[in-house]
Amino acid sequence: KNYISIGLLGLGTVGSGVVQLIKNHQEELVHQVGCEVKVKSILVRDVEKERDIQIGQTHLTTDPNELLKDPEIDIVIEVIGGIEEAREHIIQALEAKKHVVTANKDLIALYGPELQQKALENNCDLFYEASVAGGIPILRGLSDGLVSDRIQKLMGIVNGTTNYILTKMDEDGLSYETALKEAQDLGFAESDPTSDVEGLDAARKMAILARLAFFTNVNLEDVEVSGISNVSVEDLNYGKKLGYVMKLIGYAHMENQQLEVNVQPTFLSKSHPLAAVKNEYNAIYVNGEAVGETMFYGPGAGSLPTATAVMSDVVAVIKNMRLGVNGKSFIKPRFERVLKTPAQ
Ligand code: NDP
Ligand code: HSE
Repeated sequence: KNYISIGLLGLGTVGSGVVQLIKNHQEELVHQVGCEVKVKSILVRDVEKERDIQIGQTHLTTDPNELLKDPEIDIVIEVIGGIEEAREHIIQALEAKKHVVTANKDLIALYGPELQQKALENNCDLFYEASVAGGIPILRGLSDGLVSDRIQKLMGIVNGTTNYILTKMDEDGLSYETALKEAQDLGFAESDPTSDVEGLDAARKMAILARLAFFTNVNLEDVEVSGISNVSVEDLNYGKKLGYVMKLIGYAHMENQQLEVNVQPTFLSKSHPLAAVKNEYNAIYVNGEAVGETMFYGPGAGSLPTATAVMSDVVAVIKNMRLGVNGKSFIKPRFERVLKTPAQ
């Protein structure tokens, strides 16, 4: 066939953005990969649900086998979220020699190395650019752009929901509950926002970032976490009077071959570059021995921004297909475990 066929698992915030981007930017895609990219089938929970997105003739199903066992499908995009079902679908796709793109940080933080191994064994790509910081190409920034450097420190605002809540509480005096409701309505929050507000979502992203930045195995339980659910407007006002702004900061620091990774609400001086990052925007401040200071900034959540990250992976898979090198870009970690304070 003279096109690439996609099986899409999920048609929510991110899945709808993917469908829209493939439709609206087909010309750009054809230019990049030399053929059309089509979504053949989409897995959802409820085919009867009313949806804003037009999917034309694309087949909607609740049966994952209709995608995972379809020999015509080349690439599976997983954007259903959650852990166990998503993991099973991805393993099944890889065993059927389909390349996989996912936005699922929960899964990659827990099972990334195992799934990457499975991909390698099947000569398949498994890419997950959208799993950290939505539309910011930070994973490629670290694993391609800065790959020759020695990263010393990463500081990131990597959760859009909490940054949105803190911004609205600080600047508009909204209550925590109202600001959270807005973030949910805008599609930034996870289906259960506990993981956003308690810092777990940011911890998952920091584990993924630290693996790539420091070439080492970092598990979720290695990341010390505290969230923002106890922060009040009064706390923020108190900081403001002293010239500080509160952000939920993910921090990873390597010193003398020892790594420390944590996530916590932090008062930053208003002059710090991360203090200016507002609403659902994310930023990752990277300090490298050779490059010095860099900062990656952009929308950390939302339909179309996240879809651009998903599609960057799809394009990378197709380019690898053309070269016959799928599965070959995975580099094993250089260091085993170098954590400063192993979790209890
Ligand atoms: P949504 O809840 O908006 O959408 C989930 C979609 O998956 C829905 O279409 C739903 O079907 C379908 N689905 C869920 N569970 C199942 C299941 N068991 N079987 C079949 N279909 C299922 O999620 P998002 O789009 O927001 O998030 C998807 C993934 O992307 C998550 O891993 C999330 O963490 C990640 N992500 C999200 C971002 C965002 O801004 N929202 C940004 C970056 C990553 P139905 O429509 O019928 O209910
Ligand atoms: N719930 C996540 C956030 C989505 O708010 O950052 C993007 O990963």
